[in-house]
Amino acid sequence: MIKIAIMNQKGGTGKTTSVINISGELVRQGKKVLIIDMDTQGNATSNIKIINTSNKNMADAITDSSITINDIICNTAIDGLDIIQGGTLLANAFVALQKMMMGKETVLKRLLDKLPSDIYDFILFDCSPSLESILNINVLVATDYVLIPIRVDKNSIEGYGTMLETIKEAREMVNPNLKALGVFMTAVEVGSSLDREMITEFPSMLPDLAFKTYIRKNIEVRKAPLTLQPLCFYNPKCSGSQDYFNLTNEILERIKAEDK
Ligand SMILES: Nc1ncnc2c1ncn2[C@@H]1O[C@H](COP(=O)(O)OP(=O)(O)O)[C@@H](O)[C@H]1O
Ligand SMILES: [Mg+2]
Repeated sequence: MIKIAIMNQKGGTGKTTSVINISGELVRQGKKVLIIDMDTQGNATSNIKIINTSNKNMADAITDSSITINDIICNTAIDGLDIIQGGTLLANAFVALQKMMMGKETVLKRLLDKLPSDIYDFILFDCSPSLESILNINVLVATDYVLIPIRVDKNSIEGYGTMLETIKEAREMVNPNLKALGVFMTAVEVGSSLDREMITEFPSMLPDLAFKTYIRKNIEVRKAPLTLQPLCFYNPKCSGSQDYFNLTNEILERIKAEDK
């Protein structure tokens, strides 16, 4: 079971979109995937069709030790894709975590450690934009990898430096196994000269971490959530599906190379 957090302290960089579409592509390839929505905005939760809603949620699991991770998993309409819902209820979890005297950073990890390792091939965490949030610290303690989506603008490009620092700090302080899986560009406008420049320069800016694949701007990417489906099920032929297919394969290759 491989755990990947999709994180960036900036909003609107394609975190939620990528969590859903990479998960969708993994499921299409026959993998079993659990999405954990750790964002109080709950966009991942509201962008996918859930068929049996658990009446317990992550906030309950965090605050009540009699509730296990199994009690809060929901099935989606797609076979092989499950989700733990996020959203406003996480605000309660946030408050409860803040109040804990001991172990507040390891709650999510302890919950996930109880999940049998053969149920899912992958767990993907959708994260909120605030890095210092106790919810995100819990994700950094629990995950194996962090994947960073960026938008091609000055602030986002500066933003990944902060992310990489945070990963380094988390590795030193709380999770020695944590690795940055890489950085990829989302919503790239191939018609824009700035974006074209970035496509050429980006790999040399971050030789070990930049993904070759970038996700092009594509209207289908915005339509898929309206149908509550990952892109590759909604429109397998569009450029967004091709890009997420290539990105997912590059991710799998990277993880395979790490394992050796
Ligand atoms: N490749 C893309 N093409 C077109 N729109 C995109 C693309 N990627 C993301 N978007 C849009 O950008 C907005 C922000 O994306 P989102 O995944 O919600 O970001 P985050 O979760 O980082 O805040 C959404 O409206 C989404 O539909
Ligand atoms: Mg989001």
